[in-house]
Amino acid sequence: MSWFPEKRTSKSWIHQICTKILKTGPVPKHVAIIMDGNRRFAKKNSMERAEGHLKGFDKLAETLEWCLDLGITEVTVYAFSIENFKRSKEEVGCLMEIARQKFARLMQERELIQKHEVCVRVLGNLSLLPPDIQQVVADAVEFSKHNTRAILNVCFSYTSRDEICEGMRELAEGVSMGLLKTSDISEDLLDKCLYTRKSKDPDLLIRTSGEVRLSDFLLWQTAYSCLAFVSVLWPEFSVWHLYSGILHYQKNYQALKDAKEKNDSEKERRQRESDYESVLKEMKEQKSLDKSEDLVSIQCRVQQYAQDREARIHKFLQHLDHKQEEFFQNMLHQKPTFTAN
Ligand code: FPP
Ligand code: MG
Repeated sequence: MSWFPEKRTSKSWIHQICTKILKTGPVPKHVAIIMDGNRRFAKKNSMERAEGHLKGFDKLAETLEWCLDLGITEVTVYAFSIENFKRSKEEVGCLMEIARQKFARLMQERELIQKHEVCVRVLGNLSLLPPDIQQVVADAVEFSKHNTRAILNVCFSYTSRDEICEGMRELAEGVSMGLLKTSDISEDLLDKCLYTRKSKDPDLLIRTSGEVRLSDFLLWQTAYSCLAFVSVLWPEFSVWHLYSGILHYQKNYQALKDAKEKNDSEKERRQRESDYESVLKEMKEQKSLDKSEDLVSIQCRVQQYAQDREARIHKFLQHLDHKQEEFFQNMLHQKPTFTAN
């Protein structure tokens, strides 16, 4: 099945009404999905595991269409965890083969990507993937990177803890290169070092198959997301499960919004406090802190310090963007070596 089913499923009147009603309330802009239960589905239906995963892919294509209809413009899916490398050689090989074929297919569907203006990003530790998959992934990412109507983030060779460690390594490198001061490190800055740096946090996370844990998926990004656990296996997920997830989001919308706003203003307060402490520390070190220093001049110094901090961070983030661009260019232009699974 294609990423963009050619013959769009015609919507029954009841679906059209439900979509209209849901759209009168807040609809999540960004939905994250843990597509779990493919193997159980295969077993339940006496299929090969590979077929279960293929059904899982088809369900993803269908779900993306439902999301677009509802006005959900960003979807992030957990397609392959770093933990999944521990599965049998045959199964890892099968999942890699699906990725190989589906990303190649995506490139054959260039015109449709452009028509629907979809930006595809692949997030994860891509260096763990076979070189030919790295190349086809880089092709799709590069080709679609300027599209803005809808965003699909495919987390592949991903775990959240690996992503956070990688972000911390970037920060440590920034400090050791002299681009950053240790005191510049904040939640917001680490956030911008993650694979998801270009996205806003998910509003709603859905996990299928009845498991009620996050399995190392977007741990940092879902601190203020609405979580919906559904018992159905991923290939059995229907538009009704999506509607029910959105209703759950709408029911909790105000409480989540309040909690997030409270946290945002608390973060701003902590940043002001940190800038003030850094200025006092610098003044003590320069022995320029004497009793004649009035509050107004200290406030001016704090303001200047905040501006300098912003400038350092800007330069550091430019350096990160440049590094990421170089990484993708290397993946694109490496010699294709076809690895056996
Ligand atoms: C979880 O079910 C699913 C996966 C590990 C793979 C998901 C992959 C796809 C749906 C294909 C998507 C591919 C691309 C290229 C986007 P499970 O295997 O853990 O099944 P179980 O929970 O029943 O054991
Ligand atoms: Mg599973």
